[in-house]
Amino acid sequence: MSATCVIGLQWGDEAKGKIVDFLTEQNEIVVRYQGGANAGHTIVFDGQKFKLSLIPSGIFRPQVQCIVANGVVINPASILQEITQLTANGIHIGSNLMISDRAHVIFPWHFEEDRLMNNMGIRSEAIGTTMRGIGPCYRDKVGRSLAIRFGDMFRSDFREKVEGIVAAKNRYLPALASDALKDTVPPLNATEIYQQYSEYANKLRPFLADTTNYLLDAVDAGKAILFEGAQGALLDIDHGTFPYVTSSNSSGVGVSSGSGVPASFIKRMIGIVKAYTTRVGGGPFPTELNNELGQKIRDRGNEYGTVTKRPRRCGWFDAVAVRYTSRLSGVTELSLMLLDVLSTFDEIKVCTAYELDGKYIEYFPSNVDDLSRVKPVYETLPGWADDISSINSFNNLPENARKYIARLSEIIKIPVRIVSVGPSREQTIVCP
Ligand code: GDP
Ligand code: IMO
Ligand code: MG
Repeated sequence: MSATCVIGLQWGDEAKGKIVDFLTEQNEIVVRYQGGANAGHTIVFDGQKFKLSLIPSGIFRPQVQCIVANGVVINPASILQEITQLTANGIHIGSNLMISDRAHVIFPWHFEEDRLMNNMGIRSEAIGTTMRGIGPCYRDKVGRSLAIRFGDMFRSDFREKVEGIVAAKNRYLPALASDALKDTVPPLNATEIYQQYSEYANKLRPFLADTTNYLLDAVDAGKAILFEGAQGALLDIDHGTFPYVTSSNSSGVGVSSGSGVPASFIKRMIGIVKAYTTRVGGGPFPTELNNELGQKIRDRGNEYGTVTKRPRRCGWFDAVAVRYTSRLSGVTELSLMLLDVLSTFDEIKVCTAYELDGKYIEYFPSNVDDLSRVKPVYETLPGWADDISSINSFNNLPENARKYIARLSEIIKIPVRIVSVGPSREQTIVCP
């Protein structure tokens, strides 16, 4: 048995959670391996709606082992809140959840750094982070000296570690504050933080595990493993629209480092795409529609952030970007999501190339300044009027919807295997 991976190929919110939940039936283990509570994955079934940030979207099937692996950054308050909410809704959480002792922990100083560094930097446009302390925690992980891993919270020198880091951060944070913010940085209290985090640790102790070894054993035992990507490949720290990215490898390249499972074991890479494009936060977006068409997509798709509630920026499908991210992630098949949102548009555009400084290009530029200058070259396809949200077979989709799917698949050179026509489990069409 080999592993399957679900990767967003745009700027996040492609409906990865829905597909992970859909595929969970065929898998024994579901693994989150990067990102943190910046993610917001929505799962809808039996008329209920759940939003998960840290807990894998496999949690709704009790026989499935859910793993938060080493590459995730954990906000203990946030995961505890999710556990409480899920439990209150009758979802069983016990030994079916494991949290890696190697995962790094988000502390109050990380939130402070996220806040203080917003709008700071060499560019006029802010990154527009989710303010969940993600970048600062990954920065400390790579920096090593001021980092605390989940397993460290259960060791005898935890208090000493917190005190040492708080002393350093109390020197560092005020220096980071701009003039306007310098009176807003009260010193951190090591004792309070230690006590608070010891309480979290006590509650989270049952989930502590060496997930790397667990997964390597599962690989040896031939178990079916599903990896749940967070964010999208265009937000990848190395290969995305840097610096308007998140701080982890959110494309397919991150699976192995984030979980410890060798890349050679992952045979099925499912690229998740919306039938159009959205982005939350700053950074270039070549096919963005700052007009009534963009607003129509936002209204029909209810495009407001799951985590921050910010209105999502909306635009046409960018096949140049998706061709790039699908190759980068080694995608073997596509799931095309939110197709129902495009019903009632007279015509639908797909960006098939860019024009950069008068030159026609088919590649995705590596530099955001170049990307911000590209003009999309569009191909126009006819739309369809009918509501498709209750259609349950591919052949019953309107002809123009089928043509749209076929054309995307042709441009990206990857087959579309799943089409989604609504948020619920049942509104999922498996292509012939
Ligand atoms: P994720 O972060 O990739 O898991 O995606 P989000 O949950 O942030 O955003 C996807 C949104 O689209 C959620 O509100 C889903 O309930 C909703 N959704 C998922 N699939 C469909 C679909 O096919 N059609 C419509 N209209 N909504 C969908
Ligand atoms: P899911 O898993 C959409 C964006 C933020 C910001 C940038 C950096 O639900 O698809 P960060 O807080 O990570 O430092 O913010 O990345 N971002 C997301 N956008 N979906 C997400 O997750 C995102 N996680 C981060 O808006 O532009
Ligand atoms: Mg989301």
